[in-house]
Amino acid sequence: MARVHNFSAGPAALPTSVLAEIADEMMDYRGCGMSVLEMSHRSSMYQQIIDDAEATLRRLLSIPDNYRVLFLQGGATLQFAGIPMNLMRRGRAGYIVTGNFANKAYKEAAKYGEAVLLASSEDTNFDRIPDMADINARIAAEAAGDGLDYVYICQNNTIFGTMFHELPDCGDVPLVADVSSCFLSQPLDVERYGLIYAGAQKNAGAAGVTVVIVRDDLIAKGPAFAQTPQYIDLKTQAAKGSMLNTPNTFGIYVCGKVFRWVEQTGGLAAMAERNWAKANLLYDLLEHSELFHGTAQAGSRSIANVTFRTDDARLDTAFVTGAAEHQIQNVKGHRLVGGMRASVYNAVTMEDVQALATYMKDFEAQHSLSPRSN
Ligand SMILES: Cc1ncc(COP(=O)(O)O)c(C=O)c1O
Repeated sequence: MARVHNFSAGPAALPTSVLAEIADEMMDYRGCGMSVLEMSHRSSMYQQIIDDAEATLRRLLSIPDNYRVLFLQGGATLQFAGIPMNLMRRGRAGYIVTGNFANKAYKEAAKYGEAVLLASSEDTNFDRIPDMADINARIAAEAAGDGLDYVYICQNNTIFGTMFHELPDCGDVPLVADVSSCFLSQPLDVERYGLIYAGAQKNAGAAGVTVVIVRDDLIAKGPAFAQTPQYIDLKTQAAKGSMLNTPNTFGIYVCGKVFRWVEQTGGLAAMAERNWAKANLLYDLLEHSELFHGTAQAGSRSIANVTFRTDDARLDTAFVTGAAEHQIQNVKGHRLVGGMRASVYNAVTMEDVQALATYMKDFEAQHSLSPRSN
């Protein structure tokens, strides 16, 4: 079996034990004579699968009883619209724009009401999280003024390799967070948020499932807009147990297996320790390198996406091309940043990261400037 060192930003590496279990159960899921792909979502067998996925996630994140857990489709992108449609009751919400996906969410929200730009790091190509004291002061002023339905953040910026290391202080205003690329990477205090959501295809399973965790009082009255499609009406989806229509049955099954794997591997504290060890191996190398440098500011670096570059686009291309020869895949940076990106999600092993670090050091040795002779 030849498996590569896969640093994809998503869909991304899955634990090999999960893949093996899925393969094992493919022809005959636990004696029922069919695969999960072929099973009715209304069967008791499938109900057990989705219930078990939710129960495991609740244990992992200690999700309080007053939060609903949903497994939806449409990607994180559908929630860019779903969030204002459900939560923008007074027609005004605050956005902190720290990258491409936060910006998309901000623009989408502006279709439904007033999207207030609370802070942005666009002036430095999103290489940092804006100053938290400024953010908190702005939130307090807006909340005391015209009011805010919620404050929105993208907690980990997949493309730019930055993350919030501290959450904004929103007072009574609910905090809404896109945690797609840091979900299950580290412990998370659900009670600090009104709503969190994550595309599963990075740390939590297969593409096509979006996990939404929402405080039930926020959706009790139904959506903020009567025209909200019933699919993204979170109250209805919660009442139907994510089965208003046919859910992504197989994707939810994969999520359930990944949740169990995280639990059996020590839970979120263990994940955080492993993930920082992997990320810091690369950050330390970047600190000491004369060829490569990280593109995110030190205080804003991501636990999951390590972005770096040389100062020469041709060398960056040579690095990415050469990586493939070492079975190192998906290290090309996003076009908005250029350079390279290594996503070190939960299922990426320390051995994978060591292989990348060795390749980086060898590449640097080969391409370092030779001393000039006088
Ligand atoms: C932080 C973040 N938010 C949103 C998205 C969009 O997700 P989707 O493709 O599931 O709509 C991505 C995709 O990479 C992401 O990284």
